[in-house]
Amino acid sequence: MNEVLMREIARIAEVAGYLWAKGWAERNGGNISVNVTALMSEEEKKRPAIAPAVSLPEAMTALAGHIFYVTGTGKRMRYVAQAPFANGSLIRIADDGLSYEIIAEEAIAPTSELPSHLLMHNYLRAKGRDNKVVLHTHPTDLIGMTHCKPLIQSEVITRLLWSMIPECRIIVPKGIGIVPYEIPGTVELAHATIKQLEKHDVVFWEKHGILAVGEDIIECFDAIDTLGKSAQIYFSARMAGYEPEGMTDEQLDGLVPAFGLDKIE
Ligand code: 13P
Ligand code: ZN
Repeated sequence: MNEVLMREIARIAEVAGYLWAKGWAERNGGNISVNVTALMSEEEKKRPAIAPAVSLPEAMTALAGHIFYVTGTGKRMRYVAQAPFANGSLIRIADDGLSYEIIAEEAIAPTSELPSHLLMHNYLRAKGRDNKVVLHTHPTDLIGMTHCKPLIQSEVITRLLWSMIPECRIIVPKGIGIVPYEIPGTVELAHATIKQLEKHDVVFWEKHGILAVGEDIIECFDAIDTLGKSAQIYFSARMAGYEPEGMTDEQLDGLVPAFGLDKIE
């Protein structure tokens, strides 16, 4: 593997370590996929498959020939951090988009959320968005919030988390999409998530976890980390016995021109 690709793999391993250190990755919780096609030479892209092709539930037509690093199913983030190729794999999507092959040295089966990840990559590429990364993780505070019915609505939870610190409005400018509970790993979960990606880069899966898409793995982590910080501020205030005031609409709106943000209606 070339040096540029290995540098990106090292950044993925770095983030996997953060997920564990943050307490967001119990056992095998969470998964990562990164489109690494642009980081490979033409020769590397043709690496032979080391296992039979595996069918995909739908044709990923926008991903024909693309190559992804994906964490393995059942693999622990704390070990992805130490050994990314013993706990994850490189897969290549077939030219018809209907299957993938493993082209790494070890045949590590991809995450059970692969249908979701690939359908998201496929959707984003078809839209011309250069989001190479899908990051899914299990942050305790944010998942806790999804158990609260009055909070689990896009505008309500976005407004609440934005209003805890100015950075949240700046770092997560498109707010949060909500997907009601679905069985993990299903195409239903994938389709419901894609709908939310029309407007948002971060989606909360009710009673399960958080998902971020972006161009860069560190930025995806930062978005979730900043939301987690807001959630902690909110819960600390509630535990101390008061409802935090939160930034006013005027204070939040003041960030829009100051930081060149898009205003969300
Ligand atoms: P995998 O081990 O298959 O990636 O599953 C973990 C998870 O978080 C499912 O949502
Ligand atoms: Zn999960």
